[in-house]
Amino acid sequence: MAFALSLPALRDTLADERRHALCQRRARARLLAHAVPSEGGFPLFPGRTGSIHQQCREDHQAEKKEKTVSEEIGYFVNRTPFSAAPAASVSAFSDAEAESAHAFHSTFPGYEPTPLCALDALARHLGLGAILVKDESRRFDLNAFKVLGASYAVGRTVAARLGEAIGSLSFARLTAPETRSRLGPLVLATTTDGNHGRAVAWIARRLGLGCVVHMPKGSSIARLAAIRGQGAKADILELNYDEAVCFTAEEAARNGWVLVQDTAWDGYEEIPQWIMQGYASLVEEAYAQLPAGAEALPTHVFIQAGVGALAAGVLGRLVARFGPARPQVVVVEASAADCLYRSAKSETGLPMTVGGDLSTIMAGLACGQPSSLAWPILRDYAAAFVSCPDPVTARGMRVLGNPLAGDQKIVSGESGAITLGVLTVLMEDPRLAGLREALHLGAKSRVLLVSTEGDTDPERYREIVWDGAFPSIGLTGHSRAQHHE
Ligand SMILES: Cc1ncc(COP(=O)(O)O)c(C=O)c1O
Repeated sequence: MAFALSLPALRDTLADERRHALCQRRARARLLAHAVPSEGGFPLFPGRTGSIHQQCREDHQAEKKEKTVSEEIGYFVNRTPFSAAPAASVSAFSDAEAESAHAFHSTFPGYEPTPLCALDALARHLGLGAILVKDESRRFDLNAFKVLGASYAVGRTVAARLGEAIGSLSFARLTAPETRSRLGPLVLATTTDGNHGRAVAWIARRLGLGCVVHMPKGSSIARLAAIRGQGAKADILELNYDEAVCFTAEEAARNGWVLVQDTAWDGYEEIPQWIMQGYASLVEEAYAQLPAGAEALPTHVFIQAGVGALAAGVLGRLVARFGPARPQVVVVEASAADCLYRSAKSETGLPMTVGGDLSTIMAGLACGQPSSLAWPILRDYAAAFVSCPDPVTARGMRVLGNPLAGDQKIVSGESGAITLGVLTVLMEDPRLAGLREALHLGAKSRVLLVSTEGDTDPERYREIVWDGAFPSIGLTGHSRAQHHE
């Protein structure tokens, strides 16, 4: 007899059976605890009717519902009064500012634009016109985009201390012994989930500066080792990201260190602004890599966010460069730390904070408080905000690491792959049709993504991509519906 079930359906069935058995055990335990005679003499739960089997099925449905809710992708289409009449300034991302950052980066030895990979087979598979992925695992030897911001901010800081224009400070001049002696002893301090701290340590080492890096609790040992490998003093605190940021800021103030933090708050804005301007270099690179002609321009950009500095740097530059003709920008967060999504959804225009452990595999996105510089730009100009659970990025990592024939493989880490992950689900899941339609995503859409990091925690990468941790099977309603046909 031919086997009628597909493998995923079989797996679903087995999982259902296991859940059913567990449920029956629980039901029996409850029966023993609360049994009262029913009209028909059959013991039932107080206040509930039906056979054990029916009750199990109800529990089962409830469990499924709970699971669906927690696994659900939340989205908010930005049709607020703020987006109708955007007022946030993007003058920090003018052509002149973008040129300044890009020219500075271009003086670095070994500087090359990171590759922009066209995943044509995947785009066809998903019913899109194009998917373009900027692969930041190839950013120098740092495996992430972050150095674009850290290096520019440190460059601007040094220029300001020396009373010079950034345009006169090439990498060679910045790192020259004469510059070091004019600067005197200087310590850079920061908080990081990994990538930003590694980038600050990298630039500090090249300038011969001291560097202190704190990481929030739960940080990866591999990422800590990479920061120490750049010569920085680094440790992991028993604090969440936002608490650790406060700790480092106070410590830096006490010791006269320069705080190079990638998030802003009232009264601390100059360095975070430079960091965001540095990130905007990504946009200049990507657009220079596109084929000529208006038809090659992206229609959509999906960009991941922790505090939102990267997303606002990219969006700010797009607004400054293209105005209303810019692509639609979708901000994607980890659901455990979706402060921007919640801020947008509140429709008050005010930033909201997410507290607690911010526990997610997307370490780079585990930030509960929006950057005060980023939020107004995102609030006013983003097309939508999306909040995603961990299996979505795990799927993105697996898809990028195991491409369809003809497409290039991209090694993308937990914070790098979330936008591709959510795009695949968005194009397949009927439950997300509302967002798909609001964004007019279809065969004419050209979607630009940034894989912001490679395998910055190689062991975790293998756990997910080789061993299937954070399974995404059944994640899309579409594939689930097909399995049950
Ligand atoms: C790999 C990666 N992607 C994205 C982000 C998010 O950047 P932001 O905090 O500026 O939103 C980070 C931040 O550390 C990161 O490390």
